[in-house]
Amino acid sequence: MITGMDRPAEIIVFDDPAALAEAAAQAIAECAEAAVAARGRFMVALAGGSTPRTTYERLAQPPLRDRMPWDRTWIFFGDERGVTPDHPDSNYRMANEALLSKVPIPAKQIARIRGEAEDPETAATEYGQRLSEVFECKRGGLPRFDLILLGMGVDGHTGSLFPGSPVLKEVFRPVAAVHASAASIPQRFTFTLPVINTAARVMFLVAGSEKAKLLKAVLNEPTSALPAALVRPTNGRLTWLLDRAAAALVGLPK
Ligand code: 6PG
Repeated sequence: MITGMDRPAEIIVFDDPAALAEAAAQAIAECAEAAVAARGRFMVALAGGSTPRTTYERLAQPPLRDRMPWDRTWIFFGDERGVTPDHPDSNYRMANEALLSKVPIPAKQIARIRGEAEDPETAATEYGQRLSEVFECKRGGLPRFDLILLGMGVDGHTGSLFPGSPVLKEVFRPVAAVHASAASIPQRFTFTLPVINTAARVMFLVAGSEKAKLLKAVLNEPTSALPAALVRPTNGRLTWLLDRAAAALVGLPK
């Protein structure tokens, strides 16, 4: 099991991706209500890729749509591809189509990563500054999200933290521009591990048999250096929402 955290990770397995999406959407709404009740606002970072789309669509439909405190919700992105916001591979575009364009969230509370930026380093620094401003971080302080959603790739990457990437050793910068030669879109922007591991809650959404082999390594090998295995909130809750196909090799108690 994953170590280095103040509590063990929760692993919840669902029969299929639809059941996973329903539960994920419910969990997001519960997290939002609790955050607003405790702190007056809900700070969430969305995951990219394809797996979260159904969860976002569920959240944009009644009854959850009417339960969410949209006026108190701030949306960030845990990573983005180096593309324009209308590009088919844009994480922003996916989230906007599935959720953001369908709910009454103030535009100023949606913080998009400028994937199209000519100068990726500047765009990454800008996004880091936006985080510090909105979270009112003290100098060198890190934002503490109420919830960070993540996926996992078949190589064990998460966000745009890829295996062997030097950015895995980052300790200061909250957001980094990375060049992932193995990725379809190599230019990427990503939260770094210090931000992810400072969150109050991190929730992985992982579905599909093609992820089973790597998930076994991530969840069963304490010394795994796979990026997804390095997600260990120091003072937060870590939840893996899996479908049965992805969880097939994890060896969970029946
Ligand atoms: C991205 C994602 C990435 C994603 C995994 C899983 O921008 O690609 O943030 O980390 O979560 O690649 O992607 P799928 O959900 O499409 O399998």
